[in-house]
Amino acid sequence: MSDLPTSVLKRVLEVEPMDTEQEVVEYDAMDHETPKAAFIERLRQLGAPGNEQGRMLDIATGPGHIPLQLCDAFGSISVVGIDLAPKMIAMANRRLAESPHTGRIDFVLGDAKKMPFADASFDTVFSNTSLHHLPEPRPMLAEAWRVLKSGGVLLIRDLYRPADEATLEKIVAEQTTGSTAFQRKMFADSLRAALTPDELLYLAREVGMTNIEVVIDTDRHMSLQSVV
Ligand SMILES: C[S@@+](CC[C@H](N)C(=O)[O-])C[C@H]1O[C@@H](n2cnc3c(N)ncnc32)[C@H](O)[C@@H]1O
Repeated sequence: MSDLPTSVLKRVLEVEPMDTEQEVVEYDAMDHETPKAAFIERLRQLGAPGNEQGRMLDIATGPGHIPLQLCDAFGSISVVGIDLAPKMIAMANRRLAESPHTGRIDFVLGDAKKMPFADASFDTVFSNTSLHHLPEPRPMLAEAWRVLKSGGVLLIRDLYRPADEATLEKIVAEQTTGSTAFQRKMFADSLRAALTPDELLYLAREVGMTNIEVVIDTDRHMSLQSVV
């Protein structure tokens, strides 16, 4: 028995790509500042970007906030962000065009389950709150592991499924003050679609990942990450 949190809730799947105008605009407008700063800090603690010219991959990048913030934080890295939703990639490219980082970030339309990148071609591979969108998460995990250089930094953070309905409702109420009804529904649906930490660790081992662990970050976030 592990000490990781479990859930009595059954997993309820979400649609895979987020490609309606409303999803893109309302997701982009949600306040992601604090969790994203914490995400970048964790990458730093894990040793990313590894070297000054480090090449990083953001799987299911959405509107591309993290690649842009990473380029603010680290002088000469480059980042590729991939997403299955054309409207998300368009939003990410709009944000990139308004930033000082054109030339350092490449947003690519594509599927996390079969990525158009060579084996061992990234120093750091990461993903934030996206894995729960995949009905079958193994292909994405296997692809993340395939494109990561040996000894590189892996960080796959996601929501985890709350223990029960009351906990889910409490988390949604606490985290969505000031949100629209649609944003509240997106968040609740994501919590229902999320894996438990034990499920994530099991799947990561099944695809052959080694030297990894699952850590609990908050009452709703977990990270599958390299052991340092
Ligand atoms: C909740 S958003 C997270 C976006 C971003 N990682 C962030 O932290 O803001 C989930 C994203 O996963 C994308 N997605 C879902 N399935 C995907 C797949 N198979 N391949 C690539 N992207 C996918 C969706 O289109 C959406 O942009």
